[in-house]
Amino acid sequence: MGAASPQSAEDVAAGLRDAGYLAGDSTALVAYLAARLGKPILVEGPAGVGKTELAKAMSRYLDRRLVRLQCYEGLDEAKALYEWNYRKQLLRIQAEATGTGWDAVQDDIFGEEFLLARPLMQAIGSEEPVVLLIDEIDKTDQEFEAMLLELLSDFQITIPELGRIEARTHPVVLLTSNNSRELTEALKRRCLYLWLDYPAIEHELEIVRLHAPELPDTVARRLVEVIAMVRELDLKKPPSIAESIDWARALVLMGAEEITAEVFRSTLSIIVKHRTDLDTVAERVGVRLGAAA
Ligand SMILES: Nc1ncnc2c1ncn2[C@@H]1O[C@H](COP(=O)(O)OP(=O)(O)O)[C@@H](O)[C@H]1O
Ligand SMILES: [Mg+2]
Repeated sequence: MGAASPQSAEDVAAGLRDAGYLAGDSTALVAYLAARLGKPILVEGPAGVGKTELAKAMSRYLDRRLVRLQCYEGLDEAKALYEWNYRKQLLRIQAEATGTGWDAVQDDIFGEEFLLARPLMQAIGSEEPVVLLIDEIDKTDQEFEAMLLELLSDFQITIPELGRIEARTHPVVLLTSNNSRELTEALKRRCLYLWLDYPAIEHELEIVRLHAPELPDTVARRLVEVIAMVRELDLKKPPSIAESIDWARALVLMGAEEITAEVFRSTLSIIVKHRTDLDTVAERVGVRLGAAA
């Protein structure tokens, strides 16, 4: 048996690692259970902690195509599920010889050929099972969530003109949320829940090494320690893993051998991006680095 049916959480962790993702224990376990139980995973947590990347890595690991639905305010069925290809329908009607009965034309233009499949429909209509990423679901409204529930629990959709369309294959589904609003209980009930947070120091060190292998080890270690210190402060937006990686890459380019107070000051805007945060961090952490040097 291949990656398609992992035998343990350790299997999944090793597979994700090969796919460039360092999963913590609970991530590997939830991903394993989701693959085996056929349940969607709801991944929640602050921005930049690896929610979206988990879905991408799952698709590489399982060797399945990734179908992504990026959510936004006002996203509707027409963009998420399907819509009729009006232009093509119009052309079809125009091409029709005069005298053809309306019934005949109508049967024709509401056939699958005139349907535009959007990500959700693509995901369940695919011949090969896919990984479906529904990214930032908290940006949509509750109505959209309700529509999604039907799809996620029955793996089928109903198109008034066509009837019920059942899934050809079942996708592995990951939903992500930045926690900007509380999701409905109904949605949560259907999903396995994974809370991703800022990683522990050793874990983040591994991630930084993976993304910036050229960074000297002592610098990498100092970097994650400083990042952890910065996260302790009461900031508008604490630095995430994404910022740690960017900082590490910048330090590589600069050939930094050490994170001195000076290096810290000049690269501060890579890790904090609010004016008030910049002031707080410069004052609280910059001073400590200066004292240590
Ligand atoms: N566990 C991990 N292993 C490897 N890379 C990671 C991990 N977690 C986060 N990253 C990296 O951190 C960055 C931000 O991750 P992303 O998935 O975009 O965050 P989110 O979707 O939570 O906002 C990406 O470059 C990603 O590759
Ligand atoms: Mg994301």
